[in-house]
Amino acid sequence: MIKINVHFYDKKSSMKGACVLVLFSCIMCLSICNTNAELERLQHSPKSGGSLSFLVVGDWGRRGAYNQSQVALQMGRIGAKMDIDFVISTGNNFYNDGLKSVDDPAFEESYSKIYTAKSLQKQWYNVLGNHDYRGDVEAQLNPILRKIDAKWLCKRSFMVNADYFTNPKDHTYDWRGVMPRVKYMANVLKDVESALKYSTARWKIVVGHHTIRTAGGHGDTTELVDLFLPILKANDVDFYINEHDHCLQRISSTER
Ligand SMILES: *[C@@H]1O[C@H](CO)[C@@H](O)[C@H](O)[C@H]1NC(C)=O
Repeated sequence: MIKINVHFYDKKSSMKGACVLVLFSCIMCLSICNTNAELERLQHSPKSGGSLSFLVVGDWGRRGAYNQSQVALQMGRIGAKMDIDFVISTGNNFYNDGLKSVDDPAFEESYSKIYTAKSLQKQWYNVLGNHDYRGDVEAQLNPILRKIDAKWLCKRSFMVNADYFTNPKDHTYDWRGVMPRVKYMANVLKDVESALKYSTARWKIVVGHHTIRTAGGHGDTTELVDLFLPILKANDVDFYINEHDHCLQRISSTER
């Protein structure tokens, strides 16, 4: 879990800023008919004082086990203290193999019945992780889930990780909507680049599931380093938030 408080007010210029968050799921998608569409844009107004606070959590859905319930409890406390505006999930929302269908009881057992604190009943912005693609990936994207739990919102938009494509081992992945992959990736990179380029936001924050660079066990994601990082650098992105490695790292660079 990461807590973030972004103040939109830029003291130096005395200009009100804004914040743009680009969320993408590391492994891709947009349904086939959407392949050429621009990234979907959602609006979330900041507080009247001009600030915005949110929590980020990833790699969580385990029916409360693996300390999920304990983390949820702390999120509830911190969420109240910070008066958060929303929660971001960086994916791997349901272990081990995503949701089986929109009726999968894991949705409530790993989500609705876990994040019960009042402060967490805000909009959740979720992307997908590698484990989510092992199930019926369309289920997590289906707006029907919002009838079960109104705070849920999950979309896919972006990403890349060759490993799961070329080396699925014994897992089956649901790649509907992301094929042909090269075309999908090219479109999604173009969409993210233009979203960032034309944004006048004071803060540009990008969220994804996989690491770009990491000191953790999964290692760097080469495609993100090669294809995606240059876009972040060229467009003054303030930071990138991800999960996948199950540990806390703060990575900075002396390069611009
Ligand atoms: C839960 O958290 C405790 C305390 O940090 C830790 O000792 C334990 O290994 C964790 N359990 C699991 C299953 O991760």
